Parts: sequence; structure tokens; C-alpha cells
Amino acid sequence: MKPEIFQILDLVKQQQNRDFFMYSETLLEKQILSRINETRTQDFLNYFEFLKKNVKEIENFINALTINFSRFFRNSFTFEYLGKVILPQIISQKVSSQSFVSVLRIWSAGCSYGEEPYSVAILVKEFFEKNPKLQIPVQIFATDINDNVIQKALKGEYSLDSIANVKYYLLSKYFSQKNGVFKINQSIKDMVKFSIFDITDKEQNVPIDCEQGEFDMILCRNVIIYFNPQYLSFIFDRLHKALDDKGFLILGSTECPDLSFRNKYFKENSHLCKVYQKMFPFTNNL
Ligand SMILES: C[S@@+](CC[C@H](N)C(=O)[O-])C[C@H]1O[C@@H](n2cnc3c(N)ncnc32)[C@H](O)[C@@H]1O
Repeated sequence: MKPEIFQILDLVKQQQNRDFFMYSETLLEKQILSRINETRTQDFLNYFEFLKKNVKEIENFINALTINFSRFFRNSFTFEYLGKVILPQIISQKVSSQSFVSVLRIWSAGCSYGEEPYSVAILVKEFFEKNPKLQIPVQIFATDINDNVIQKALKGEYSLDSIANVKYYLLSKYFSQKNGVFKINQSIKDMVKFSIFDITDKEQNVPIDCEQGEFDMILCRNVIIYFNPQYLSFIFDRLHKALDDKGFLILGSTECPDLSFRNKYFKENSHLCKVYQKMFPFTNNL
């Protein structure tokens, strides 16, 4: 890593306890150059000095790095598949093997403004409405490294662009609209627990309030795309450990498990969308 980029990341880590060392260097360089341009600081050294004296710029820098684009039901086919195939499969297995009260556990890691976990909450709610006998408790955790996006997610207010993929009957059922702002209903909000969590954090495997892991489904979509490939096995190891046996990992449309994990720890569930199922590596040491 170029020393000037290292210096900037080190400062951000010390001042805000946010670690961007696993990010791809190309992305880091591009976003730093854009901040240099925006702040008219001309070069890395001046920008670094500016950053040292300006807390607000650290926030701007973090916002620039953590690309927060998201949409409700982004890649709508994936959500169709989750709602029609994966969720029914997980829930009916839980219900049929139920010796004690099972809980459906879902984690949206890198949730941005909340569109992704709220979309999943809508799917789950719709499923239980149509299948009341299969109703079990649900816990949906949504985390992001960026505090600003979590605050906005908690408000649950969205633009027309954000909700463009939402079907009309779901929009009228789960959103209210005022002056062009679409607000998600309290019933959906109550299903999702938001917190700040850095998926690259070496100290902690899963967010503190979902400590035991054992997720039936983890959505980590359009997040790892920004990381340096050399760190991906660390991320996939973490995701693998956080999943329940046979849990599902959902990635973004251009992402797939790191080579060392593909076909060994995760098997592809659908070649039409990025849904993988946890498996254990074959071992001869029995
Ligand atoms: C492009 S958005 C994807 C949002 C959503 N998953 C989707 O696919 O629409 C990427 C999100 O990942 C978050 N993110 C980036 N690095 C992260 C990290 N190290 N830990 C947790 N979240 C991170 C960003 O803040 C951003 O909100």
C-alpha cells in the first residue's frame, strides 16, 4: 500500500476507530483523489493535514469510501427466489424438526440505509401471513460500518428511486407516503435490529447483540466487492462460521465466494442468483 494512503487510513483508524485497511487500493486511491478535488487540497500531503484538523472531513471521507447505494428488492429476481424457495425451505425445516421453539435468524451485513433488511422483513411477514401455521419467532439483524446510514435506516424514509422495485400491493401495505417521501411501516421497522459493525473487525466475529451467530441466512451483498481480494478468505471464513449448519449466504450479483471457499465450504444453490449454502469440507481424518 502506498505510504500516503496508509497514513490517511491510520489517522481515520485512530480518530474514529474505523478500519479501511482491507479495502481495495484502487478504490481507496480513487476516493481519496475525489476528496482532494472536493476539498481543493491539491495533493495527498495537504489533504492529510486538512484531515487531521477537520473532524467533519473524516466523516466525509468515510461516507465517500463506504459506497452506500442500495434499493428495496435490489436484483428483484434474487428476492423472488428468497421469498418463494429459500425462506419456505428454511422455515418448514425448522417447524418440522421442532423439539423446542426455533427462531428464524437473518443477518444483513452491510445493510446501508436499511432497504435490504426491510425487504427481507417484508418477505418474511408476507410468508407468515400466507402460512400462519408455520409462524415462528424471527430475528433480523442489520449492520453497517457507517453510523450515518444506520441513523437513516432507523428513520426508514425513502425516495421514489429507492422503492422503484417494490410491487404496488406491497407499497400500499407497508409504506405511507407524504410529499414524495415513502416511510416504512412500524410493523416492519420493529422486525429489524440495527447496529454498527465492521465486518473486517478482527476482535469480534458477529455483532455483539447477535453473539451466538447461527444465522439461517446472511445477506452480504455488494460489500466485499470493495475489499482487497487478499482479505476475502478472512471474510468468507467469518461468514461461514456465523451461519447455522446448512445456512444460506446471499451475495451481490457480481460477487462469489473466494476460490478457497467455493465448492468446499459453500455450494452454489442457484446459478441464476448468488445464493450459496454452507457445507463442511470433506475430511479424511475420521
Ligand atoms: C453498496 S452498499 C450495499 C447495500 C446492500 N447490501 C445492497 O446490496 O443493496 C455497501 C454497504 O456496505 C457497507 N460497508 C462497507 N464496508 C463495510 C465494513 N467493513 N463492514 C460493514 N459494512 C461495510 C457500506 O457502508 C455500505 O452501506
